[in-house]
Amino acid sequence: MRLTFPFQTERVGAVRIYGMQHVFELDCGHLPAHGESGPAWGTTVAQVVCRDLRSIHERMAIVVPCKDERLKVLEGVLRGIPHDCLVILVSNSGREPVDRFAMERESVERFCRFNQRSALVVHQRDPGLARAFEKAGMPSLVGTDGVVRNGKGEGMLVATALARLAGRDFVGYVDADNYVPGSVREYIDCYAADLFLANTRFAMVRISWHSKPKPVDGVIFFNRWGRTSESTNRFLNLLMAHLTGFGTEAIRTGNAGEHAMTMELAERISFASGFAVEPYQLIDILERYGGIELPETTEIDGEVMHEGVEIYQVATLNPHFHEDKGDDHVEGMTRAALSTIFHSPATPGQVEEAILSYVNTHLEDGTALEPVVSYPPLSSLDWEVLEEVLARDAATLERIDKPGLSRRGAIT
Ligand code: GDP
Ligand code: CO
Repeated sequence: MRLTFPFQTERVGAVRIYGMQHVFELDCGHLPAHGESGPAWGTTVAQVVCRDLRSIHERMAIVVPCKDERLKVLEGVLRGIPHDCLVILVSNSGREPVDRFAMERESVERFCRFNQRSALVVHQRDPGLARAFEKAGMPSLVGTDGVVRNGKGEGMLVATALARLAGRDFVGYVDADNYVPGSVREYIDCYAADLFLANTRFAMVRISWHSKPKPVDGVIFFNRWGRTSESTNRFLNLLMAHLTGFGTEAIRTGNAGEHAMTMELAERISFASGFAVEPYQLIDILERYGGIELPETTEIDGEVMHEGVEIYQVATLNPHFHEDKGDDHVEGMTRAALSTIFHSPATPGQVEEAILSYVNTHLEDGTALEPVVSYPPLSSLDWEVLEEVLARDAATLERIDKPGLSRRGAIT
C-alpha cells in the first residue's frame, strides 16, 4: 500500500495526532523503493510492501461486532478479511424464535473450513461470558439480568479481551453490515500500513470513509460526511483548540467505527457503552495522556507518557456502503457522541454551551445529555481467571481452526 507520509498536525501532551492520509495505491509492489528492508518513508508518500502488511496481519485480530445483520452481508465481510488475521465474531443477534447466532456461527465455521483459517465466535449474552468478566474483575459490564450489557462498545470490549488472550498484538474492528467486501480489505490494509509505520507501542489508526453514498432522486450521491461525524468532529476540534490554544481541523475521524490499535494501547484505555465507544476512545486518550490537569486525577502512566501515543487517520478509496438504519439511529449515535464530549472533564464551559445549543436546534430529542457509561481498562482484568472461567462456563465460545477442528471454550 502506498499512502501519504503521516504528517503530525497536533500534539497535546504525549498524544500526537496525524493529518489525514490518502491512499495512492492499494498495492505498491513488493520491493521497497529505498533499499531492501524497512518502510520507505519518502518525503510525501510512504510505501508499505505486501510482506510488511502481512507481518502485521499475522499478529492482528479482526473483531466483527454483529447484531441481527443479514447473513449474506456478514459472509461478504468475512471474505474481505486478510487470511492471516484471526477473526473474532462477537454477536448480539437474536436467538429466538430463529437462532440467528447459530446461523452466523455456521457461516464462520464454513468460512474457516473452506479457507483453512482460524476464528473465535461468542454470543454477547452468554451467561458464562458474563460470569467470566465478573470473576475476572469487571462486574460493571454485567447487567441486572446477569448477562453482559447490550451495546456495540460492550461487544468490542469482550472481543478485545479475547484477542488479548489469543496472543494477538494488534486489534482492528470492522462492522458486519458492510456491503462491499473489497472495502473491508482496504480498511485492514490501512490499519496494517500505519501500525507498521508507528513509532510507538501505543498507536491507533482510524478510518475516514471516502464517502457514504446514498440514492437521492434516483442518482447516487457520494456524501463525504455523515451528519453524526460532522458534529462530532466539529466539537472535538473545538475541544482540541481549547487545549492547544490554536484553532484546528485535525480530528476528522471522531466517529470512526472502523479502527485498529496496538494491544498495549487497547488494554490501557476505557471502552464506553454502545455507540459512544469510538469518540470515547479519543477523549479518553486525551484525558489520560494529553497532559491535562483534571480534578479526578487519573494515575499517570509513565511508560506511555514517555513513548507517546500516535493517532493516525486514513481516508479510504472505497466508499462505505452499509445498511441504512434510519434517522432515529443517526440521532441516537449523535447524542452518544455529544454526551461523551459534553461530560468529559477536559471540555471547557464554552464548548459545553455550543454542544447544548446544537442539541436544541438540530436534534429531535433536545433533552439533557445523559453521562456515558464506560468501563475500566482491560488491564484491570485478571487474565488467568478470565481464561479459566471462559473455558469452563462460556457455552457459546468456540475456537475454530481448519477443517473439522472446532473446540468449545478454547481461545488458543
Ligand atoms: P453505524 O454503521 O455506525 O451506523 O452503526 P451500525 O448499527 O451499523 O452498527 C455497527 C456494527 O455494530 C454493526 O455490525 C452492528 O451489527 C454492530 N452492533 C450494533 N449493536 C451491537 C451490539 O449490541 N452488540 C454487538 N456485538 N454488535 C452490535
Ligand atoms: Co452500519
